[in-house]
Amino acid sequence: MPFAAWPARDNRPVRITTPDPALVLLVGPSGAGKSTFAARHFAVTEVVSSDAARALLTDDAGDQDASAEAFQVVALIVNGRLKRRLTTVVDATNLHAANRKQYTRLAARYGVPAVVIAFDLPLPAYHERNARRAERKVDELVVDDQAARMPQALAELDGEDYLAVHVIREDAAEEATVERSRAGPSNL
Ligand code: CTP
Ligand code: MG
Repeated sequence: MPFAAWPARDNRPVRITTPDPALVLLVGPSGAGKSTFAARHFAVTEVVSSDAARALLTDDAGDQDASAEAFQVVALIVNGRLKRRLTTVVDATNLHAANRKQYTRLAARYGVPAVVIAFDLPLPAYHERNARRAERKVDELVVDDQAARMPQALAELDGEDYLAVHVIREDAAEEATVERSRAGPSNL
């Protein structure tokens, strides 16, 4: 499975090509910039977010008590979209293999390729971005726990079955482009 780390050694800008349709799993701790990236590169209806599901259930995107139901809602929507062969971006931390497996199983069921875009930043970046947030701020200890899981998640991703895994480091996300290709990824 191709594994691409950005910025590349020659510093060329991040150019991600995803098949269309695709299941796109965003992976990274809170504050990594997953939702910002999703909003910039994908249509609103393509992005299925655990926070949005929590908000729909409780009026509070940060209400962790609703997590189990929120993930059921996310899985239901992901299933419905993939069944219709629509590109679907899962905007959640996706740091646990069991969670990712739930989605990749659905993608496999409908013959939709799965790709990962992971955000691997230095720990202070997650904290700084969280601190700067006007809306929901995630507890610092929770962010620490999530960041501590990141190396293991990256190692696991390498062994999981994706068409491509893109790992975006530092500020490479800023100038990233995402292209859709019906012929599959061509930049790997
Ligand atoms: N942000 C930033 N620079 C970026 C990306 C994000 O300053 N390149 C800011 C956003 O404006 C936001 C904060 O960092 O205020 C967190 O970004 P967000 O995309 O919301 O992070 P997520 O990974 O989605 O965090 P969470 O898992 O908590 O939803
Ligand atoms: Mg988010």
